[in-house]
Amino acid sequence: MYLQKIRSTGFYAMKESLDKTKIPQHIAVIMDGNGRWAQQKGAMRIFGHKNAVTAVRECVEGCAELGVKFLTLYAFSTENWARPKDEVDALMELLVETIAKEVPTMMKNNIRLLSIGDVNTLPKKAHNKLKEAIELTKANSGMTVVLAISYSGRWEIREAVQSIVEKVVNKELKIEEITQEVIAANLNTKNIPDPELLIRTSGELRISNFLLWQLAYTELYFTEVLWPDFRKEHLVQAISDYQKRERRFGLTGAQVK
Ligand code: IPE
Ligand code: IPE
Ligand code: MG
Repeated sequence: MYLQKIRSTGFYAMKESLDKTKIPQHIAVIMDGNGRWAQQKGAMRIFGHKNAVTAVRECVEGCAELGVKFLTLYAFSTENWARPKDEVDALMELLVETIAKEVPTMMKNNIRLLSIGDVNTLPKKAHNKLKEAIELTKANSGMTVVLAISYSGRWEIREAVQSIVEKVVNKELKIEEITQEVIAANLNTKNIPDPELLIRTSGELRISNFLLWQLAYTELYFTEVLWPDFRKEHLVQAISDYQKRERRFGLTGAQVK
């Protein structure tokens, strides 16, 4: 209790140091390091996934309190299906449990849930729970949490190419009408602004097939912290670092000043 208090005091003090006018409206997170976190404790990898739930809650709460509008969480990649069956099954089970448990909190905090990815590949139970939670929270107007599940950037781009080509073939769209806006509108993330900030935990310096189109000008932030240890303070640290950057979008420093 006492420790909890010190910790949250830390968050509130740190929060005050942020520039309120420069809070990113969309943060994307590659939640990595669950397996290693568990292994360091001599436990099974799934123990790490179970302990990732607290970090998810902290990150969602922290973002809501800071006024972030969209939070995209990379929960499961297309490539993750190739992990050992036990781990995949346990992750899917955990997904169902967590969504079911978190819906009341999302309702209370006016949070809307969305998903991106090939959700049809999910086990029926997980898919249904997800659809149910999306439906229940669809009118919430506070923050939007986007779960990337069975997602990869290349999969998403392929889907977009297919649907654009289909429109061209059906003469609903001319080739010269394929603009960047049209491509963006055919991605799973249509109507979601590109993230200003990407956070990846666990020290890995790569994108791992996440939001390949959308990250074009996103600021990248990497931390050694393993995902199950991620807390609101780490979120504030990432945003504080982001606020010190000069985003130039190809222009010169003088131009953006
Ligand atoms: C991230 O943690 C969660 C998923 C990819 C589902 P990992 O399971 O990748 O953990 P490490 O990277 O092996 O430590
Ligand atoms: C990226 O983590 C996917 C998720 C966090 C869901 P991985 O652990 O799968 O990425 P790699 O294999 O280290 O690149
Ligand atoms: Mg990993």
